Amino acid sequence: MIEEYAQRGIMLPRSRQALTRQIDQFVIAELDGKFIGCGSLFRLGADLVEVRSIGLHDEGKGKGVGSMILEQLTEEARRQKIPKIMALTYAVDFFLRNGFTVVEKEIFPEKVWTDCVNCKKQHACDEIAVLKKLD
Ligand SMILES: CC(C)(COP(=O)(O)OP(=O)(O)OC[C@H]1O[C@@H](n2cnc3c(N)ncnc32)[C@H](O)[C@@H]1OP(=O)(O)O)[C@@H](O)C(=O)NCCC(=O)NCCS
Repeated sequence: MIEEYAQRGIMLPRSRQALTRQIDQFVIAELDGKFIGCGSLFRLGADLVEVRSIGLHDEGKGKGVGSMILEQLTEEARRQKIPKIMALTYAVDFFLRNGFTVVEKEIFPEKVWTDCVNCKKQHACDEIAVLKKLD
């Protein structure tokens, strides 16, 4: 699924090795015992975590499952006492429905210096940055 969305330019590609290394940061959703979607958290700094690779197979969409995955990831960030959770996304409405607000990408130097510097779209990035502050 991540590969398919990466080919469509909706998600960043993730190598099998990277996924294996970061597998404990993933939440997955199943329907009738079948994998239908996932999402993950990636630590960008002392007070900031990023939502990555959140997506569903088509049959899982429109049932509130994406919000459930996002809520689980948010709870995990809270559990780790990380006060800010962000994403770079095209699915802005989805994040707004879940309490995020749109912000300037430039407020996340941690993201810019880890990922954006290696991205071929870095000078024409059209993804929107969203942020939620946790209490
Ligand atoms: C973005 C994405 C994860 C959203 O997932 P989703 O599960 O469809 O989104 P939501 O959780 O907000 O659910 C939305 C729908 O479920 C409905 N819903 C919400 N809670 C529900 C519940 N408890 N029971 C039934 N339906 C429910 C909502 O009314 C809404 O319906 P609508 O779209 O017709 O208004 C999904 O569209 C996706 O995989 N997109 C492609 C990948 C992508 O862009 N990922 C983001 C990269 S950062």
